[in-house]
Order: sequence, then structure tokens, then C-alpha cells
Amino acid sequence: MDKLPKFVKIVEVGPRDGLQNEKNIVPATVKIEFINRLSRTGLKTIEATSFVSPKWIPQLADAQEVYTGIEKKPRVAYPVLVPNEKGMQRALDAGAREVSIFTAASETFNQKNSNCSIAGSIERFKPVVALATKHDIRVRGYISTAIGCPYEGPIAPEAVARVAKELANLGCYEISLGDTIGVGTPVKAQRMLAAVAAEVPMQKLAVHFHDTYGQALANIHACLELGVAVVDSSTSGLGGCPYAKGATGNVATEDVLFMLTGMDIETGMDMDKLLEAGNFISNALARRPESKLGRVPVDSRRNP
Ligand code: HMG
Ligand code: MG
Repeated sequence: MDKLPKFVKIVEVGPRDGLQNEKNIVPATVKIEFINRLSRTGLKTIEATSFVSPKWIPQLADAQEVYTGIEKKPRVAYPVLVPNEKGMQRALDAGAREVSIFTAASETFNQKNSNCSIAGSIERFKPVVALATKHDIRVRGYISTAIGCPYEGPIAPEAVARVAKELANLGCYEISLGDTIGVGTPVKAQRMLAAVAAEVPMQKLAVHFHDTYGQALANIHACLELGVAVVDSSTSGLGGCPYAKGATGNVATEDVLFMLTGMDIETGMDMDKLLEAGNFISNALARRPESKLGRVPVDSRRNP
């Protein structure tokens, strides 16, 4: 318990991880309004979109329009996903100030998601990082399938730690450990995080849980106990990965905020404004918020 952080940075991934997985393509105007509303919640980082191949992810083919259309609030970072140099060039053209590169701990998943091996993806990232350095842009790294893979099954924590070390050596300021298909449980999450933290300082690590089996909050709590202080989440629990069949949404930002507030951990966020953003996107997608918090009156959602 003594390692619990006093402040947690929530990294909102809904506009990217959430909307990349919607069956219907969401209009750019809706994405822009969603991000603008998220910008008013006190979030310090909002992953805005992806400059990946539009053939692979048609849902985010409007990345340029979305990125250039959003209001950029001072002191809020709007990272974008880039898979390769071409994506980095597109991100630069749009004016991006922070990018995220992504690889995996499982070879099969990486082939399906990025059409290359893990080592191949690290090679691809070298020119991306070189361009980022030249333009003074921060680079975040993701490792997918950090606990389990839809093709290879359980993943050894040491395999995640090896990839994390490579991303840290490349120059990533933060590395997000992704339980892509949500098969983690608290003990597995702790084992994985501890193995990675033996190679890369905890201050550089973030956790990214999908909530397929309802374990995400428990996993986050277990990781907070080891001292992690950056948590990825998605408003209204939007999300999934098109290359990981059956994977459901990310843990809902509303639920993470409720838990952290109840633990007296600061986030700088405003629950009411977050709920407004969640209601906006849920209505726009004609779906109800997945968060249980969406079903009770606003005032009782605040922690005492
Ligand atoms: P590829 O087909 O091998 O690419 O895809 P290529 O280099 O052979 O190029 C083929 C064509 O694509 C060329 O065009 C390129 O110009 C174009 P053509 O000559 O045929 O006209 N192309 C691009 N166009 C626009 N933007 C680009 C780009 N790159 C190439 N950036 C590639 C390889 C990596 C591009 C592809 O596999 C890809 O885009 N994959 C991304 C898949 C994805 O976005 N998955 C979801 C994000 S990861 C995730 O959700 C997990 C995470 O949330 C963490 C977790 O939960 O675990 C982060
Ligand atoms: Mg994800």
C-alpha cells in the first residue's frame, strides 16, 4: 500500500482506441466535438487519432481532419498513433506534437496488427524516432498482448520486459503495457509489471487494460500498489482492437476516476464534465454508456 501514488495521470484513449473499433465510421465533426469536450475535463493527455494505413483502419482515415480540427488546450497533450515513417510524416504535416509507436510482446499478434515481426517494428520505429527528435516531439511506446495473445495464449512477463527495454532504449518517454484482450487478472498483472519494472523505471510505465472479463479495475488497483502512476482508459468504455477478435473496450475512464477519487488519489479531473463527454459520444454512437456510473444520478457519482 505504501507505494500507492498520490497523483495518477489518466491517458484518455477513447477517440483513438475506442473509435478505431466502431463498426460504423463516426463523422470527423463528432470526433472533434468529443475531443473538445474531453479537453474540458481536466485530462492532461488525450490520444486523438491514428496516422495508420486507412486500408487497415478505415475508421480513422480522417486523422488529418480530426487532428487539425480540434482545439488544442495549453498543457494538454494530444498524442497520435504512428506505425511507420509514412505515418510520422503525416502526423508532422498535421502539426502533431506527440506520437505513440506500437509493437507487441507476441510475434503472431504483431504480424496481424502491423504486418511485421517485433524486431521489424523496432527497425521501422528508428526513422520515426529520428524525425521526432529532429522536431522536438515526444514519443510514447505501446506493447500489446502484454499478458495474453489471442493467437499464442499466455505471454511470459520476461518477453514484455525485453520489448519494453528496447522501446526505452529507442527513446520512449513512457511505455504503456497493453492487456489487449483483457485476459489479465491482478496477480498476472502484477507479475508482468514487476518484470518490466526490473528493466525500465516504474515512473516511465503506464498500464492499459481492456475489460473483456471485468478485471480491469482490479488489475489497475493491483498495479497502483506496485507504484504505477499512469493509467490509460477510454470514456464510456469505448474500444477494442480490430486485430484481436473478441477484445472489448478499454476500462471506462469514469470508473477509473471514481475508484481513484475514492482512494484519495488526485487526478485533476472533473467527473461531471467527463460524464457530459461520455453522454455526448454515447448518444452520438446511439449506445448507452457501458459504465455503471451512467445509470445513477450525477450527484451520487461523486465520492463522498
Ligand atoms: P503494410 O500494408 O505492410 O504497409 O501495412 P506497406 O508499407 O507495405 O504499404 C502499403 C500501402 O500502405 C502503401 O500504399 C503505403 O503508402 C500505405 P500504396 O503504395 O499501396 O498506395 N501506407 C500508409 N498510408 C497511410 N498511412 C500510413 C501508411 N503506411 C503505409 N501510416 C502498416 C503496414 C503498419 C502500415 C499497417 O499494418 C497498419 O497501418 N497497421 C495498423 C493497425 C492498427 O492501427 N491497429 C490498431 C492500433 S494498435 C492497438 O489498438 C493496441 C493498443 O491499443 C494497445 C493494446 O490495447 O494492446 C495500442
Ligand atoms: Mg488498446
